[in-house]
Amino acid sequence: MLKGDFPVERFAGLRTPFYYYDLPLLRRTLDLVQAQLDRNPEFRVHYAVKANYNSRILAEIASRGFGADCVSGGEVQAALDAGFPAEGIVFAGVGKSDEEIRLALQAGISRFNVESAAELEIIDALAGEMGKVAPVALRINPDIGAHTHAGITTGLAENKFGINYEQLDEVMDLALRLQHVQYVGMHFHIGSQILDMSDFVALCNRVNELVVRLQRGGRPVGDINVGGGLGINYQHPNHLPIADFEGWFDTFRKHLKLPQGTIVHFEPGRSIVAPCGSLICRVLYVKQGTHKQFAIIDGSMTELVRPAMYRAYHRVENLSSSEPEEIYDVVGPVCESSDVFVKEFSMDKCHRGDFVAIRSAGAYGEAMASRYNLHRIPDAYFFEG
Ligand code: LLP
Repeated sequence: MLKGDFPVERFAGLRTPFYYYDLPLLRRTLDLVQAQLDRNPEFRVHYAVKANYNSRILAEIASRGFGADCVSGGEVQAALDAGFPAEGIVFAGVGKSDEEIRLALQAGISRFNVESAAELEIIDALAGEMGKVAPVALRINPDIGAHTHAGITTGLAENKFGINYEQLDEVMDLALRLQHVQYVGMHFHIGSQILDMSDFVALCNRVNELVVRLQRGGRPVGDINVGGGLGINYQHPNHLPIADFEGWFDTFRKHLKLPQGTIVHFEPGRSIVAPCGSLICRVLYVKQGTHKQFAIIDGSMTELVRPAMYRAYHRVENLSSSEPEEIYDVVGPVCESSDVFVKEFSMDKCHRGDFVAIRSAGAYGEAMASRYNLHRIPDAYFFEG
């Protein structure tokens, strides 16, 4: 959505900051993912609900027949409420509570991505009590780095996620022995906002190695879930609004060496929803500092924490002005010096009351909003197209 396409006249009556979602862009993105699935009949997509659990967004994705990847009982329930069928729901997470496991068993989800032997035993016991058999995939920590922010790698041995790949045989034998779980496959996820496809090639190589090891030991392989992680272009939201799904799926098609007919699951979150969302704020004040000029806006780390938390870049656009650009530090009102969106950033001259859009905020934006400094949880509005 180009700067001129944002309906600022409509924004005038709305309380800022709020999230604004471009549904035609979301639909184009989903069309593209679907086209990739049509070319790769053994691939399945489970949208990672953690990226954005806005009910309207979930309903849009569910209506396309994709599955959902959840990490809490709350997300499992939100996915069910949005119309994802239970058979399309997978449930990961290192610390699933008994209550969450029971909820997922009751709903009849398609699999638990199990992250430890201890968890496997609890799922077995709870399923036994409920007279059920839980489908389980083992989440393996592949010990693979990813070129992304240190805070969002997940596939290194030092990260808390998954079962150490050296213990795979042992934990699988436990899964095969237990009465109330059924082994259905392996799950991996190496991190998020990954643009370097060689990271995914490294994952494929590790998966191939483990598949051979399982086959040699006479153990089942089942399905392979390679997680999410595909990055988007935060620099150029207007020129590159859709992630490189083709390159991503092609990488796995080329590099995974799996038994004929093996189903491969993907869990994209950010790449589906990040580009379609913006946080719309108003400029409150323009302030001259000793060496800097600040554009103080009414949105903050409370509504969009990514810049403060990961030093993540989001492009900022002044939607109300086309006066010659000036240099600003764009900051929020929260009492923390990390409440900064961008520093030394050139944008159209700002005035009190201007609307600014913080772009590419559809993933991990609204979903991570808090009430810090007792702000309200931001509202969400939709561009229908
Ligand atoms: N599958 C699993 C098991 C995951 O842990 C994640 C994300 C995904 C799929 C989806 O990954 P995606 O396609 O969105 O990269 N809050 C951080 C990102 C944390 C990602 C956590 N796991 C951020 O704002 O950058």
